[in-house]
Amino acid sequence: MGTDKNMNRRDALKKMGSIAISTVVASSGLLSLTSCNEKRKRIILYFTGTGNSLYTARQLADENTELLSIPQLVKQGKYEFEADEIGIVFPIYGHMPPYMVRQFIKKASLKSKYKFAILTYGARKCNSVEIWNDISLKANTKFDYITTLIMVDNWLPNFDMNEQMKLDKHIPENIQKITADLKQNKHWHEPVTEEERLMHNGFMEFTGLDPEVGFLKKSEQYFVINTRCINCGVCTNVCPRANYNLTSNGIEIQGDCEFCFACIHNCPQKAIQFGKIENDPLLMRGEVNPNARYRNEHISLMDIKRSNNQF
Ligand SMILES: Cc1cc2nc3c(=O)[nH]c(=O)nc-3n(C[C@H](O)[C@H](O)[C@H](O)COP(=O)(O)O)c2cc1C
Ligand code: SF4
Ligand code: SF4
Repeated sequence: MGTDKNMNRRDALKKMGSIAISTVVASSGLLSLTSCNEKRKRIILYFTGTGNSLYTARQLADENTELLSIPQLVKQGKYEFEADEIGIVFPIYGHMPPYMVRQFIKKASLKSKYKFAILTYGARKCNSVEIWNDISLKANTKFDYITTLIMVDNWLPNFDMNEQMKLDKHIPENIQKITADLKQNKHWHEPVTEEERLMHNGFMEFTGLDPEVGFLKKSEQYFVINTRCINCGVCTNVCPRANYNLTSNGIEIQGDCEFCFACIHNCPQKAIQFGKIENDPLLMRGEVNPNARYRNEHISLMDIKRSNNQF
């Protein structure tokens, strides 16, 4: 009997407490926000070298979206995610995902009713949608919606950044279309033509890249630092692989390289240049304009540092 009495008092106090809390929540408008949050929680995972993919991820985000940088997640060893919608945004390299994104999806568990992938590119997407679908399916993750988005092409060996930035690639209109598709949870993979598949095969033959790896180079073989370097340390913070070190002898570079070009584009002195690489068909001719560099106009240097910094 005594126990029952105690329980009743406790229950009554509990009930009073919850009434008080719900009154405060409702009167402050938090109730609707909380239930709305619970309804549509969205996570967008991204990888970026020069900001196009981060800009895209931000444009697709709403107040219920958590934006997460893949290099930071890899650093923290976080691979499990749960939300109503999960998206991934990254640039394509030779029509393939960056190596880090490839490794990430192999380990990741994405628990969600709706998954989407946005692949940013600059000139030739080929069959990148199919390639990503194959890679992610092999990793037991099925994306309901996969599309590409054309943006400034940051591939320095073929493009002059000053010229690229003048081109109108209809980015706002294309982002608007993607936003509308995502709003209705559209199930769709952007179609790929046979010609695009053949073009990719030709590219792979020409470059000799391993289709299971894509771009994974040695940074010390590809980049050299010239005398314009002022030891500002920017390169140490924008590299998602922590390949740059500021030492008493100046900047040193070494390590497996995503070829994301975050270092070469973001160096304020344009002191990072491609080395002479005669045996790599992609870089035999050097670059088009060593004085032109690019970062998405809506993205700051601090944004790139926050996304990629490994220290
Ligand atoms: C190593 C490398 C390879 C690339 N390969 C392609 C490609 O095959 N096709 C293409 O259209 N753009 C290619 N690009 C351009 C990028 O995909 C494009 O500029 C992307 O939007 C950059 O995104 P970010 O600013 O988020 O790094 C390549 C860029 C790099 C650095
Ligand atoms: S970002 Fe450029 S100038 Fe700054 S330390 Fe690196 S190479 Fe030198
Ligand atoms: S060395 Fe440069 S290109 Fe290579 S991963 Fe680091 S920032 Fe990217």
